[in-house]
Amino acid sequence: MEDFERLISAQKIEGDDTENKLRPKSLDSYIGQEKVKQNLAVFMSSAKKRGESLDHVLLYGPPGLGKTTLSHIIAGEMNAGLRVTTGPAVERPADLASILTNLQAGEILFIDEIHRLNPTVEEILYSAMEDGSLDIVIGKGPTARTMRIPLEPFTLVGATTKAGMLSAPLRDRFGMVFRLELYSKDELSAIINRSAGILDVEITPEAAMEIAGRSRGTPRIANRLLKRIRDFAEYENAGRIDLPLAKKGLVRLEVDDLGLDITDINILRTIIDKFNGGPVGLDTLAASTGEDAGTIEDVYEPYLLQLGFIARTPRGRVCTQAAYKHLGIKLFNPTLFDMDEKED
Ligand code: ADE
Repeated sequence: MEDFERLISAQKIEGDDTENKLRPKSLDSYIGQEKVKQNLAVFMSSAKKRGESLDHVLLYGPPGLGKTTLSHIIAGEMNAGLRVTTGPAVERPADLASILTNLQAGEILFIDEIHRLNPTVEEILYSAMEDGSLDIVIGKGPTARTMRIPLEPFTLVGATTKAGMLSAPLRDRFGMVFRLELYSKDELSAIINRSAGILDVEITPEAAMEIAGRSRGTPRIANRLLKRIRDFAEYENAGRIDLPLAKKGLVRLEVDDLGLDITDINILRTIIDKFNGGPVGLDTLAASTGEDAGTIEDVYEPYLLQLGFIARTPRGRVCTQAAYKHLGIKLFNPTLFDMDEKED
């Protein structure tokens, strides 16, 4: 039982308190990801009507877009308990066996970073997901036997920033696969207004839009910036967050007008300065910037791609004309951008 407690974190201790307070608790209060919400609403309602547990769900996309939040919402809407763990925490097959046999009927098991599950652990999941049973091999060699332990019906919600790193057998066992997209500025502004209401701080629509535009398409960043700017407002005894106050706070937080931070700028400048604008392969770019290749791919690249500042080509990443413009650098080799509009 102790092991079980170690592997599973209770819902209430996950994340910091404000982060949990700001999480929407129902699909109705969840802003954005419209396609995911619409489909999930249908699948959850049908499963409930049939009195069954929901089929297994895979959520993937860049960090901070609401994968954990959605797993809480699924549990809430299905009136089911939620157990939360992460891929690297489940080290041995026995760990997973302990988690699965302790699940109550209908419960949701959320495994974050599911791509980091050990392959021997992952194998246990196959029969659990497909047949609702644990197939455990006892003994070794010719006398080895398989023991089958039936499990209570459950729903696995897996989350990953790297769907490509999931093995095909695991990916195929999810009945639903949802890709979360970066949020639009309007959606982020709506999230900031909602969060400001919960935090009991007044914010003007212009200020909310300004913060939204610098949040890299990511609600977690939007909420973090809002909380820090609220600190500036309180420090200055300002009754509310207005545009000048938001702008001043954002300058102090060293967030540029598109939300790029020092690492984004370093990535762009490296492509431009050291590789003449690209193309440069991911691993070479990682070595030259001192960043981890996976972090560049999962955390930084999605937003730079959305802004159209970098492009992926078969020979590697290239910086686009828009990136040069944003950084105030004169284009060295305009022929690189035949596909872009020409500067006047
Ligand atoms: N807070 C964080 N993410 C949110 C979302 N998608 N909708 C509403 N509030 C949020």
